[in-house]
Amino acid sequence: MTIPQIDVTAASFKANPFPYYAQLRDEAPVHPVTVRMTQQRAWLVTRYADVLSVLKDERFAKDRHNAMTPAQLRKVPLIMNAFKQLQRGLLSLDGADHDRLRALVHQAFTARMIEQMREQIQTVADELLDAAEARGSMDVIADYALPLPLTMIGRILGIPAEDNAKFHRWTTVVLGAASNRNPLVLVPNIMGLTGYLKRAIRARQAQPQDDLISALVAAKEGNDRMTDDEILSMIFLLLSAGHETTVNLIGSGTLALLEHPDQLARLRDDPAIIKPAIEEILRFVCPAETATERYARMDLTIAGTAIPRGELVLAVVGSANRDPAYFDDPDTLDLTRANNKHLAFGQGIHYCLGAPLSRLEGQIALSTLVGRFPKLRLSIPTEQVQWKDSFILRGLKALPVSL
Ligand code: HEM
Repeated sequence: MTIPQIDVTAASFKANPFPYYAQLRDEAPVHPVTVRMTQQRAWLVTRYADVLSVLKDERFAKDRHNAMTPAQLRKVPLIMNAFKQLQRGLLSLDGADHDRLRALVHQAFTARMIEQMREQIQTVADELLDAAEARGSMDVIADYALPLPLTMIGRILGIPAEDNAKFHRWTTVVLGAASNRNPLVLVPNIMGLTGYLKRAIRARQAQPQDDLISALVAAKEGNDRMTDDEILSMIFLLLSAGHETTVNLIGSGTLALLEHPDQLARLRDDPAIIKPAIEEILRFVCPAETATERYARMDLTIAGTAIPRGELVLAVVGSANRDPAYFDDPDTLDLTRANNKHLAFGQGIHYCLGAPLSRLEGQIALSTLVGRFPKLRLSIPTEQVQWKDSFILRGLKALPVSL
């Protein structure tokens, strides 16, 4: 059978990409598509074993400068100046440059620090649900899934309460940049956020506090520390990498539970299954449908398909997570699935730094929501639920429910 030409970034595709990926795994496990937003060719890698090996394969670079020829680099569209500085983060570095920053941030962003946030995450979730309960309905995305991680990352960084409103405003615009590319809106918000964070970094250098910005300032390996620009890029990366992904986990996770009443009932009857339940929801909904860009450093072959040097490869973790070669009944949501080695957080040196935080936020958000509202229902027919256009991620625009 021929493989249909599909816009893999379109909302209509995001609603159910799984039959297409099943066809690719069977018939064309390394398949070229054109990314609509950039008109670039991307090779989709869809089988679990191949996705895993691409994520660990040093023949791929995250930094395109380490892969492309000068002629290929000249064709890459210029990125807006204001964004340039912010793009030089951990997730777009290779080898020793990456490992150095990862070791430094690892000292500041620790599992122990995250575990200490448990009570605060619970309080924020309770407060958001109190407000929703008073109204009798809510949009799970705008009223719960989005404000929860945004409020928490603000608190973790150490943004004082009186600055919350402007911090939320800036970050929402800057992180939503994919959908709002109007420079008149974007640039003042980027400048506002950048200026604010630079002042916050300088203030912590003069007087450290008990927060993540201070920990980033203090982190050192031997005599090596992060520069101010590196701290700024790191904060931007933490804000952007942790933002929509966690929103998608909570939002699409709620939808998956509502669409599987038997599993929802299991979770209500036995809230202690929340940890494996979140792992299964991560596997099943894939908040990040593909890992971020990787570029071939040389002409190479994956599963028999030749990839020329400099070309873009996308490891489709959302497809790997539904590969029947690795998971029994992969299209079934089973909240206590055994041996759930999903790839939702990636693998290898770029494995998600925020996995402990998003797991904890997901566990608290979903168990609190379903435990508190036994009559939770979708307010619109499932077919009317709208997904977002997206290159890498997979998530809902809105999820109206009654409580
Ligand atoms: C459900 C939520 C999340 C999902 C599904 C997710 C997924 C991922 C994936 C797949 C990668 C690897 C990308 C690649 O190899 O191309 C990654 C990397 C990363 N994530 Fe997450 N993420 C989530 C939440 C978070 C949070 C809350 C934070 C921080 C606050 C975060 C920070 C990062 C960082 C910094 C990296 C890059 C690590 C490196 O390059 O060494 N993520 N994430």
